[in-house]
Amino acid sequence: MLSAETYKLLHVIGVLCLFLGLGGVLALGKKDGAKLFMILHGIGLLVMLVAGIGYAHKASMGWPNWMIAKIGCWLLLGALPVLVRKGVLPTAVAFLLTLGIGGAAVWLVQAKPF
Ligand code: HEM
Repeated sequence: MLSAETYKLLHVIGVLCLFLGLGGVLALGKKDGAKLFMILHGIGLLVMLVAGIGYAHKASMGWPNWMIAKIGCWLLLGALPVLVRKGVLPTAVAFLLTLGIGGAAVWLVQAKPF
């Protein structure tokens, strides 16, 4: 079994993959190569969720409310590239939402407000 610290490292690597993938999708839209970034985004989503829950389990944290709220951020960031590629959201709006939602998720883990 992996240690708590390894789960946390994997969680952050998953976060990095997700944002790298999102950046590529926002830059390329429907152009060639965007699929690769969609895949990176998907892998990041999966890794960060599994490793985040793995860490919480290892650290015997249960399911605090800030973590449920982070899962909400995760769902929103998961939906963004699809909404951009389908033309539902303009790229500039998705760019701002990415920073806002990502920032909110980091704030939630720092402040653990609830
Ligand atoms: C949505 C985007 C997310 C971002 C940007 C994000 C980012 C981060 C960051 C930067 C840390 C701090 C790592 C450290 O202290 O070294 C962290 C910790 C953590 N995250 Fe996330 N995370 C996200 C989603 C999630 C999700 C979906 C879950 C769980 C299902 C989760 C569970 C955790 C846990 C349990 C910790 C450790 C908290 C602690 O040290 O007390 N995160 N996250």
